[in-house]
Amino acid sequence: MSKFIPAALATLSLISSVSAWGTLGHKTVANVATQFLLPQTLTSVSSILSADLTKTTTNPTLVDVANWADTYRYTTAGKFSAGFHYVDANDSPPTSCSVDFTRDCTGTGGCIITAITNYTQRVQDGRLTAQHTAEALKFLVHFIGDITQPLHDEALAVGGNDIDILWNGASNNLHHSTSRPV
Ligand SMILES: *[C@@H]1O[C@H](CO)[C@@H](O)[C@H](O)[C@H]1NC(C)=O
Repeated sequence: MSKFIPAALATLSLISSVSAWGTLGHKTVANVATQFLLPQTLTSVSSILSADLTKTTTNPTLVDVANWADTYRYTTAGKFSAGFHYVDANDSPPTSCSVDFTRDCTGTGGCIITAITNYTQRVQDGRLTAQHTAEALKFLVHFIGDITQPLHDEALAVGGNDIDILWNGASNNLHHSTSRPV
């Protein structure tokens, strides 16, 4: 089974031009990724997610679990993963744009780069419990969505959270508003 997972991940990581990352955005990323999965990969994904003891539907898809990590991060058990959703690039946009692993991946426990590495390894490990394997896949589908959102990769104004804007006539901030479908 594990040999099919890298193909799935390669496909997931190609999806870099989706431009909405609220719950609908994450579901959209997962849906598009699913369209590109090999039948064998789809079978693996389905069996991994079906073994999830916390599943809320009988046969969960990547779309169903795409937002789990955003709920989990606010729980006591999942608090450790809050810093896994982003990397704060300390570059100088727009003159100089870069992500430097040593400079920027300094969060407690890592950042989205180490998290994607970690959960890619974990989903393929084969020695983990079914629950830990399902968790790894749920993290992964979410973080691949997050890393393609530019405001998850930038330290400037706390990823846009400190930039006040008017959105649909209401006060909001740049980061939050880009997470909301119009
Ligand atoms: C890897 O995943 C495990 C299980 O969720 C977690 O405890 C650990 O902190 C993670 N490590 C990194 C570097 O993300």
